[in-house]
Amino acid sequence: MKTIALYPGSFDPITNGHLDILERATKLFETVIVTVAVNKEKSAVFTGDERVELIKKCISGKAWAKNVKVNQFTGLLVDHAKDMKADTLVRGVRQISDFEYEFRMALTNKRLAPEIDTIFLMPDEEFTFISASIVKEVAYWDGDLSSFVPKDVEKALKEKFMNEKGNKE
Ligand code: PNS
Repeated sequence: MKTIALYPGSFDPITNGHLDILERATKLFETVIVTVAVNKEKSAVFTGDERVELIKKCISGKAWAKNVKVNQFTGLLVDHAKDMKADTLVRGVRQISDFEYEFRMALTNKRLAPEIDTIFLMPDEEFTFISASIVKEVAYWDGDLSSFVPKDVEKALKEKFMNEKGNKE
């Protein structure tokens, strides 16, 4: 059995779909490290630290999350995987349209580090349309996010956008 898997992503913010994939991954690996990619060139609503904190809050107290660690990185994912001694990358695939991008990324990572494999997991059907960008759009217009993200994420999003809108006025 493989031991350490890395579950990378932007997680800006983490959604119920991400949490579904994470829980599935914990059943396959002894340790799962959720790792937030921080790219200073890419604009994000939450800072790396905020994203890490939100993920920690969302998994806190969950029995399945006892072997989950959360961290952040900047740079190449495979380098971070090697640093963490992870030999598997976990990615969620919601729909066929995700596959092309995921396939390209997996092949790139494979070329860079042949010893690291990528596995794809499907979320429950109810999460297949949820994405962080859709969640941000609904949050911006103050929509009901209760079935998209955990309460702590909903609160953080509403606060962010309230401040942002306040600053524009
Ligand atoms: O949640 P996302 O935005 O789809 O995650 C993409 C992510 C962060 C996993 C990917 O962009 C990434 O691994 N970035 C780090 C830079 C890198 O290693 N790139 C080579 C693989 S394409």
